[in-house]
Amino acid sequence: MKRLIKNIGCLAGIDSERKHCLRGSEMATLNCISDAWLLIDGDRFDSWGEMATMPVPEDDWDVIDALEGTVLPSWCDSHTHIVYAGSREGEFVDKIRGLSYAEIARRGGGILNSADRLHLLSEDELYTQAMRRVHEIIAKGTGAVEIKSGYGLNTEDELKMLRVIRRISETAPIKVVSTFLGAHAVGREYTGRQGEYVDMLIREMIPEVGKQQLADFIDVFCDEGFFTPDETSRILEAGAKWGMRPKIHVQELAPSGGVEVGVKHNAVSVDHLESMIDEDIEMLKGTNTIPTGLPGTSFFLNMPFAPARKMIEAGLPVATASDYNPGSTPSGDMKFVVSLACIKMRLLPAEAINAATINTAAAMDLSKDYGSIARGKVANFFITDEIPSIDFIPYSYTTPIIARTFLQGQEVK
Ligand code: NIG
Ligand code: FE
Repeated sequence: MKRLIKNIGCLAGIDSERKHCLRGSEMATLNCISDAWLLIDGDRFDSWGEMATMPVPEDDWDVIDALEGTVLPSWCDSHTHIVYAGSREGEFVDKIRGLSYAEIARRGGGILNSADRLHLLSEDELYTQAMRRVHEIIAKGTGAVEIKSGYGLNTEDELKMLRVIRRISETAPIKVVSTFLGAHAVGREYTGRQGEYVDMLIREMIPEVGKQQLADFIDVFCDEGFFTPDETSRILEAGAKWGMRPKIHVQELAPSGGVEVGVKHNAVSVDHLESMIDEDIEMLKGTNTIPTGLPGTSFFLNMPFAPARKMIEAGLPVATASDYNPGSTPSGDMKFVVSLACIKMRLLPAEAINAATINTAAAMDLSKDYGSIARGKVANFFITDEIPSIDFIPYSYTTPIIARTFLQGQEVK
């Protein structure tokens, strides 16, 4: 079935060179055509052009009038924790009263609080809660998402989370990739015995996740007060034996050597980077690792923002994702991430949109099929209301702009 979108005010994110990601100064260009049409063949983009060149639709084509709205490739969100139980607004209030994220974690709240709740929830109910968030992010324009485990912290509950992620990928129209994050915190049964927890994770959890093929990637919270670079290295090596590539949490709370470990293990991405130092930027040059900022986390926790501007000046392919989770970022709104990237990280609108589409697709190793409008890529896109320019998207930082959403070429209602 072919679907023709006509009267597009601006067709944005066209990528005829099919680059894996955009680096440094390349990020400032968002290829657009004004007054355009776009043809979808089945679930893939086929062709596009200016209205004057629009093909005559055949009888069985579905023709959609974009009413002068802008068409953008769907957001790609390369870092989320959207499978979780309940919420943690109590800690939100504790933070307002003066406790830090790290203090809440030390007192047994934070990630362990979510693990306790997840343990008590049935797999079906966990799926139902997570699907509500999946529908929420689809409505906000996300078309591909990475989802992590990491609120199980024992073998049984980690597998339960990963099965829920698999069920989401089988039942939702959005593209899902899965990451095993058993090393998010030390499970309660191992309190005070971090080394033994890491040994168990390597001996028991990773082989089980690997045998059941439940994860594409492996993650570790490599940071001060969590897992050390040496522990991270051992965990990543064990994951690599099962084909899980690293995407790791680094340098959020302190410059603790995480970028170096990521580069050493050829990580697909290193994420957070709020405490990144100049040496880390140097280390990332000439590598395939995508540095990923999570500006929603900095906003919510009142922390410094990752030095994205500096990384772009250094020629790096910066990505920005949501980090949607119950503790540090209870939001998966990628348009708001794009606004924060502009307002707080000083990215230009084109840079911020590229950081949230093609570069986040690359940060999930999905840019062959997602993240831009290219012939043969999966037709995940949205049509906005009529807007004055692309710059209006981050500028109008709380205005909903999406009129219609399409995933795999089909409209999502
Ligand atoms: O990416 N920093 C580590 N993990 C999550 C937060 C998890 C939580 O607080 O539940 C993050 O911010
Ligand atoms: Fe995270």
